[in-house]
This record gives sequence, structure tokens and C-alpha cells, in this order.
Amino acid sequence: MKLLRISIISISLFIVYFIVNCEFSDKKIIEDVGNNSTTDIQQIQESEIVDVNEPTSWTTDPKKNVKYLHITWQNDPATTLTFQWQSDFINVTKYKPKVWIVKSSLVKVEGGKVFMPYAKQFSYTGEGFLYVTHDVHGNNEKRAQYTVEVFGLEEDTEYYYRVGTFDDFDFSTKSFINPDFTEPKKIKTGLKVGNKKPFTVFSGGDSQSGITKLKSNMDWIKNISVDFWIFYGDLNEVGTQPEWDAYFDVMQPLFFNKVFMPVQGNHETVAELFYYQFALPKMPNLDESYKEHHWSFDYGVAHFVGLNSTTDATVKAANAFLEADLQKARSNKDIQWIIVMMHHPVYSACSTHGSTQRVIDNWVPIFEKYNVDLVLGGHDHNYERTYPIKNNTKVGVGEGVQYVVCSPFMSPKWYSAGKDWWTYKSKDGSDGCFGIIDIKPNELTYTAYAEDGVVVIDTFTLKK
Ligand SMILES: [Fe+2]
Ligand SMILES: [Fe+2]
Repeated sequence: MKLLRISIISISLFIVYFIVNCEFSDKKIIEDVGNNSTTDIQQIQESEIVDVNEPTSWTTDPKKNVKYLHITWQNDPATTLTFQWQSDFINVTKYKPKVWIVKSSLVKVEGGKVFMPYAKQFSYTGEGFLYVTHDVHGNNEKRAQYTVEVFGLEEDTEYYYRVGTFDDFDFSTKSFINPDFTEPKKIKTGLKVGNKKPFTVFSGGDSQSGITKLKSNMDWIKNISVDFWIFYGDLNEVGTQPEWDAYFDVMQPLFFNKVFMPVQGNHETVAELFYYQFALPKMPNLDESYKEHHWSFDYGVAHFVGLNSTTDATVKAANAFLEADLQKARSNKDIQWIIVMMHHPVYSACSTHGSTQRVIDNWVPIFEKYNVDLVLGGHDHNYERTYPIKNNTKVGVGEGVQYVVCSPFMSPKWYSAGKDWWTYKSKDGSDGCFGIIDIKPNELTYTAYAEDGVVVIDTFTLKK
């Protein structure tokens, strides 16, 4: 009898395990070849590191050329990085996506040429999944998205990396077999939670239809001196695959070197293409279908939250996550600042769209309960800074939540500014807008720039 009971429990547990794991396959992952377990590349022995014999070419199969690379965080910004790309080679069982990543202090740079050493701990293998680009224009192309998460990195440290694939590494000849790699690029890891070092963040949104302007300004955009980017939606106008291709192409010089954390806007019309192509944190207290729609991470003394504000359903779906997430962040003594971004403006006097009632009803009470410091959005392509707000009333500095709309970034679409009881300052969107957030333990300065990167539209400092 006892044995029978144990068997029934075992079978039940297996069924639950099976169901849970099936639910995780929504991204059509064809193959998961795993990662390097818990290897910490700081622990590597010097004898395991070899200088690599340079191949005649780093590209052996043009079909395997890396396209549309970008880097996000799915986990701790201090110790992980997630690299994603596509290539014309879409056999995901044969293509093993790899990231070869080495701390800068171990890399030799001679005559402008970068020589990265190799050790098996420096190579991470990820996975590929297939998707079909079905969209409003009837495009039905098969694509492979490759994702590699690198972990065990040192915080606040510069690394060189190449992404691509290779068949094997031959330690006897110190050479790669069939390497297909990008040029070496540099990326820096983030700060551990509680690290008090000051840092700077780019914030913006609404680059839709902005490919031409992004391209002509990329030389300085890629050099904006920030630690990472957050972007509140409307990256493209419709979000079809051809638009994404053009977008990722033009963003490459920036995306090689900066982590970019976006949320979905209403112009990400083909929403699944957004989620297929951006790997974002999978948070607790969210239904499986809303994983990656709403997320958060800690960076130094700040907690960042990204929310999908596009519909009543997406907003309601985040309530339990948001409550638990902000409760946890506010009870963490290492975190001074809570910064939230979403596509839609919470309070907006712009006549094109205006305030977002579903957010005021669902999320604002949670923001106020946990004293969120700054809420950023776009959608109304103009600039508007509110007074601090609590209980739907303007209050004194430090007594309520500070809301800012700053948009568009490089889009030719702009709207007129308005004024209402909550408006502290507003300006039409004709000059574009992006924000630079300078964060120190006791001081947060937000500066809104026109999209020429020179004219300051507005600036303010919050203190603790
Ligand atoms: Fe927009
Ligand atoms: Fe929008």
C-alpha cells in the first residue's frame, strides 16, 4: 500500500514536471546544448590559457555571418550578459552559437589588432530557435534566433568578445576548427547591487520610422557615455521583420558595446517578433504568457523596472509581479532609487494621447505605496515633466512620484505639448528628446536632451 502511494506520488510529480517544462517551450527551442555549468572564469589557472594561432580568416562560411547582434540582461547585470543574433544558417541543430569572451586584462592589443587568448572556460554555448516571420504584410520567412547567456563574470569589468560559432578548438595546434566569428568587440559588466559607484543610463523611446536619422547620427549616438540603455517602446513603426532587420542593422555600432533593455510599445504590432528577438528577464509572479513583458533588475544602488503598458490585459497581468517586486526592492537597504519605465505616459497633457487611465488605476497606487522615485515613458512624442504626484494631487519634492515623458528619439513624428494641473514643464516634440540619468547613492540627476545631443530641454535632481 505504502509502495503504491509512493508510486502514485512519483508519477504525479513527473506529470507536474512535464507540464511545467512544456510551458517553457513557447519559444520553439529546438535544441538546448547547455552552458558551462557554474564555471567561474576568474578561477581559471594560467596554464589553461593559450595564445591562439590566428586563422587566415575568421569566416569560413558566409552563411554563418553574424547579423543583428544585441546584448541584454536576463539575470544579474554584474555577472551575466545575454548575446543574441541571427545568421542565414538556420539549421539550429547544426549551428552551435558561441560567445568567446575574455577579460581585457588578459588580451593583447598590438598595432590596433586584438589578440584574445583561449581557454575552454572562455567559451559559452547557447541555443537556437526557429520562428516564422508571419506579419501583417504576409511575410512568412523562416528565421533562426541564436541566444547565448554568459555568466560568472566579474562586476564592473571590461571584456573583449567574439560571437559566432566554431566546430572545435584544437589545443595541440592552438587553433579553431572552422571558426565563424565577429571582429573582437568590447563590453563592460555592470555593478553588483549595493555597489555605490556612480553610473549613467540612457533612456529614450519612440525611434519608429527613424532609421534614416539613426543612421546619420550613429557616429555620436554610439559614443554617448553611459553604462547601458533602457528604451520604452515603439522601436519601429509597425514591427515587421524587414523593419526589425533594418533597425538591427543600423543599431549594430551601438549594440556591439552597450546593453540595451527595451519594453514593448504599441507600435511593436507583431509583438511576438519583439519577444523572439529580445531575451529579457523572466520574473516570478507573472503568468507564463507575460514572462519578459514585465521585468526588473538591480544595478548598483538602483532598481530598474520595465513594464508592458500596451493593453488593459498586459497592465492587469503585471499587478502581482509589481507589488512583490517593489516590496522586495524597497525593503533592500542597498537600493536607494527605484526607476520604472513603460511605453505609455502615466500623466500626459499632450492632446494626441494623454494620460493612461489603466496605469493610473492599476500601477500608480503600487508606485506610491513603495515610493517609486522616477517613472519614464513616451508614446506622446513630446516632453513633459510633472510635479511630484501622490493621490492624484501635486505634492512637494520628495513627497510623491516624479513622472517624465521624453520622446521621440530620432523619429520624424512629433506632437504638440499641453499643460494640465500636473504639468511642471512641457515642450513640443519637434526637437526630439532623450534622457540621461546620473545616479549616485544620494543624488539622481535627470537631464532631457534634444535629439541633437546638445540642447538641454530640462534637468532636475532628486536627493535622499
Ligand atoms: Fe510612438
Ligand atoms: Fe506609442
